Amino acid sequence: MVDVTVGHGGHSFLFGNRLGAGGTLIGLDADSKSLERARQRLAPLACKVILLQSNFSQVAERLAELGIKEVDFLLADLGLCSGQISDSELGLSFRTDMPLDMRIDASLEVTAADIINQYDEKSLADLIFEYGQDRASRRIARYIVQRREREPITTTGQLAAVVSSALWTPGGKHKARHPATRTFQALRIAVNRELDNLRDLLSAAPGLLRKDGSIAIISYHSLEDGLVKWDFKAREHEGIYRIRTKKPISPSREEIAVNHRARSAKLRIAQKT
Ligand SMILES: C[S@@+](CC[C@H](N)C(=O)[O-])C[C@H]1O[C@@H](n2cnc3c(N)ncnc32)[C@H](O)[C@@H]1O
Repeated sequence: MVDVTVGHGGHSFLFGNRLGAGGTLIGLDADSKSLERARQRLAPLACKVILLQSNFSQVAERLAELGIKEVDFLLADLGLCSGQISDSELGLSFRTDMPLDMRIDASLEVTAADIINQYDEKSLADLIFEYGQDRASRRIARYIVQRREREPITTTGQLAAVVSSALWTPGGKHKARHPATRTFQALRIAVNRELDNLRDLLSAAPGLLRKDGSIAIISYHSLEDGLVKWDFKAREHEGIYRIRTKKPISPSREEIAVNHRARSAKLRIAQKT
């Protein structure tokens, strides 16, 4: 099997146990620190474990390099591990002030600070609207441009403050979500080319799965889930997949109570015909 977002190895450990000594588990992650955690977690497994630092958009190339033509199971748990949000080197948190970077894949060149300081106002607004689904995108973009005319915005704290000031209303109600959540989501998606990577993975998958092999994808926002849903539907229509989850599987209330970050998770599974 291949876990293209091995992270800290939580899922892979459970699957690896089921694979047993005869199986091979290949884990990919773009982030070297995640891979290091996975290496420790997966060390006790009896199956063969191969861990590679790679973007999952290149999963087909990585498997070809290993001489692997087909797999029985392909798993993707999109997004980030909670530790990555607080990792000051990645610059993803609006709760702690850190350099505005957001690249989880060190081979990427454009940082969040580059986008925030170089995009024109309309492009910024479009990005925040499209990837952040924030209806106040134009107002936020205007505030960002006004602020950066005085000095560049280089930290997550500065950006969070600008977005908060754009959305501040006198006597406004305290919201459960930080006002900068959507803007940060938009930037993260753009910097890491998250939707392009997912498209690449979805188009490579049918060529990598053995007959009756399955692909399972967990997504955390509607842009990703929409791509997965329509890809599976289109391929079912073409007779390539059988969809195993007519409706996506969501976490139970009990699971959300112990793992709040799972609240928006949606799992979809398809099987190669
Ligand atoms: C939600 S975590 C996965 C957690 C994992 N399922 C576990 O049980 O520990 C997502 C992981 O995917 C990685 N990731 C995100 N986008 C990626 C991409 N395009 N290519 C490779 N890894 C990616 C992140 O670095 C992160 O470690």
